[in-house]
Amino acid sequence: MTAERDGDEGAASAPDVEINLAINRPHSARMYDYFLGGVTNFAPDREAAAQALSVFPQARHAARANRAFMRRATRALARSGITQFLDIGTGIPTSPNLHEVAQGVEPGSRVVYADNDPIVLTHAQALLRSAPEGRTAYVQADVREPAAVLEAVRETGVLDFTRPIALSLVALLHFVPDGAHEITETFKDALKARGSALVISHLTPEYSPEETERICQVYAVAGNPVRARTPGEFAGFFADWDLLDPGVVSTPRWRPEPGDEVFTDAEAACLGAVAVRP
Ligand SMILES: C[S@@+](CC[C@H](N)C(=O)[O-])C[C@H]1O[C@@H](n2cnc3c(N)ncnc32)[C@H](O)[C@@H]1O
Repeated sequence: MTAERDGDEGAASAPDVEINLAINRPHSARMYDYFLGGVTNFAPDREAAAQALSVFPQARHAARANRAFMRRATRALARSGITQFLDIGTGIPTSPNLHEVAQGVEPGSRVVYADNDPIVLTHAQALLRSAPEGRTAYVQADVREPAAVLEAVRETGVLDFTRPIALSLVALLHFVPDGAHEITETFKDALKARGSALVISHLTPEYSPEETERICQVYAVAGNPVRARTPGEFAGFFADWDLLDPGVVSTPRWRPEPGDEVFTDAEAACLGAVAVRP
């Protein structure tokens, strides 16, 4: 399932498919939207999010700190000259979205988004409002099937795999309890051009282990198993690539900028890092 638009074409239309949003059970994308203060969520999402907040009161802070990390990492890579981005686990659109940040630096930037939640597909239009000089596309795909994701991404024709691509797996891999490192390696393998980049943020037990354990239980009960990873496990995602300064840190410590909201490590609860293929 793919939706795509050139910047200078008219507004993209929603794909003509039957979509089952399963609104009778909580979804991680809609719970995250609730934490960010969005309106794309339903009663079961809000109930599960309220339970999560009762054991993990920093959830809203963690979501905002994570979003700010995504913006800073994207901007840093765009300023370094990367003009192609693949964002898997995109989430419900929240402005500024990744393409707005990248195209704010280089309007010709090209971005492919991917998520497996049908609610994101129904909001894909917001992700497809590319700057006229650039291009964006959305593919409905599951990160646990990296070969299928890559095939769908290649089919869009938006990204040139012979040139550097930045892969964003932001607040995604903790929803992949098993096999996350192998999956990440498959994507890294596909990004053959020197200077390709990897951006990851991830829930960690490092700063508030008891609350983190409890939020993992709440998500498991809600049907979204989550695995927090230690800094060592997190660093393993970047094996053989060069970590950019400041290396593996809590999300708000990755190149903070004046005017950013300030969060403690415990509030952020997530690690963030960016690496490039040497
Ligand atoms: C916490 S949100 C993060 C959104 C965005 N990356 C950000 O950091 O603001 C996690 C997203 O990952 C998506 N997701 C979870 N499991 C996935 C999977 N197996 N394949 C693709 N996307 C997945 C969810 O649907 C949700 O949109």
